[in-house]
Amino acid sequence: MIHPEDVEGIVDEWRASLASGEPFLYEARMRRADGKYRWMLHHKIALRDESGEIIKWYASSIDIEDRRQAEDSLQKSLDEIKKLRDQLFKENIALREEIDSASMFEEIVGVSPALQSVLARVAKVAPTDSTVLLTGETDTGKELIARAVHKRSRRSSRTFVSVNCAAIPAPLIASELFGHEKGAFTGALQRRLGRFELAEGGTIFLEEVGELPPETQIALLRVLQEREFERVGGNQPIHADVRMIAATNRDLCSAIASGAFRRDLFYRLNVFPIEIPPLRERKVDIPVLVEYFIDRFASKAGKAIRRINKETLELLESYAWSGNIRELQNVIERSVIARDTENFFVGKNWLALEFTQPPFGSQPVAKLPGARLQMKHCRPRRNSLLFLTKVHLVGKLLPFGPWQTSPFDLDISQSIENKRDTLISLRVRGR
Ligand SMILES: Nc1ncnc2c1ncn2[C@@H]1O[C@H](COP(=O)(O)OP(=O)(O)OP(=O)(O)O)[C@@H](O)[C@H]1O
Ligand SMILES: [Mg+2]
Repeated sequence: MIHPEDVEGIVDEWRASLASGEPFLYEARMRRADGKYRWMLHHKIALRDESGEIIKWYASSIDIEDRRQAEDSLQKSLDEIKKLRDQLFKENIALREEIDSASMFEEIVGVSPALQSVLARVAKVAPTDSTVLLTGETDTGKELIARAVHKRSRRSSRTFVSVNCAAIPAPLIASELFGHEKGAFTGALQRRLGRFELAEGGTIFLEEVGELPPETQIALLRVLQEREFERVGGNQPIHADVRMIAATNRDLCSAIASGAFRRDLFYRLNVFPIEIPPLRERKVDIPVLVEYFIDRFASKAGKAIRRINKETLELLESYAWSGNIRELQNVIERSVIARDTENFFVGKNWLALEFTQPPFGSQPVAKLPGARLQMKHCRPRRNSLLFLTKVHLVGKLLPFGPWQTSPFDLDISQSIENKRDTLISLRVRGR
């Protein structure tokens, strides 16, 4: 007995074979004596007489249930893979759009000749596939420039992968960059692709390249020389079609002199150097950056700021900005949040107080061995009131351990004794 769903198909096919005399071949389910259906391959061939007339059909039916089941499960796996591939494809597009919109938002703002000459170099090198080495102090915009090189290159539709070499522990960096094979080390439960493979066809941006451990420097040199690498624990060379942009705020020449950085790697990276000047060397950029950041943070906070106080602008232009553009950005964001008027202004003490916080990411001072150590983080002018106040305060606070208070809790107009009391009470409150 044929399965009801297969009857129509098998009958049509049989009629077609009868009409044409062509062999009949059809897969249909048949019910066995125990009532279960199984897939069968039905095959019929015509026997003809001398005149070519069909005199009879030879027929056979072969049980193909196992093959059909294997095919069904294969089809299910393929459907699943296709679903996952479509999902990955969509996620990839979404991520690229997100990255694009985030970096579109982060425009390169500035009018100074120094920045213009950086941009001119970007325009020159971007269309080539040459390795670029970006140097400059922290937060001068190296990543922004690296993205600009990628965006203006023929690789712009492919991925831009950024790796901060200083943020990854030394034993893990090779696996992070080049991936690893299953079982390469304890905990490597499955094969993992590294950043170089993820950046295939695109650009890899290696931040703080000067922090790479020696063995990873050798592997990186091989990628630059031979365009290939191996996954950790693997022995198959993998071709790398990746453009490399490296950045450092470290003096690589002295790192070479001290043996911490390979000279040959430096030459391979330094094909097209671009030096990004600190903000204090391009002060004409400050007004446009201020306007740009006010606009950005005011619309984020839903505030309307229409005027910038003249003294504020002068103050911002005269400040040294050791934390470069990120420091300026932070001051403006904070001021926008704190003010409720249409007039934008930053008080002198706001900037000065910037000095009082250790730089972001630096270790809290476990014990203050003396005012001089604390002052390493703070560079107020030596004769300023703040300088004198801080030396005095730190000296008095030494017995109380780390200075973790927020500078906003301090009023510069307080007397030194009052400030000390405030700090002590803040520490007692655990702030
Ligand atoms: N010319 C510019 N115009 C607008 N924003 C800028 C400019 N330069 C830098 N920025 C902003 O300043 C911040 C720091 O920039 P970026 O992260 O590119 O600096 P970096 O040199 O890579 O820093 P780090 O040394 O910490 O790695 C970012 O938010 C960036 O968008
Ligand atoms: Mg960076």
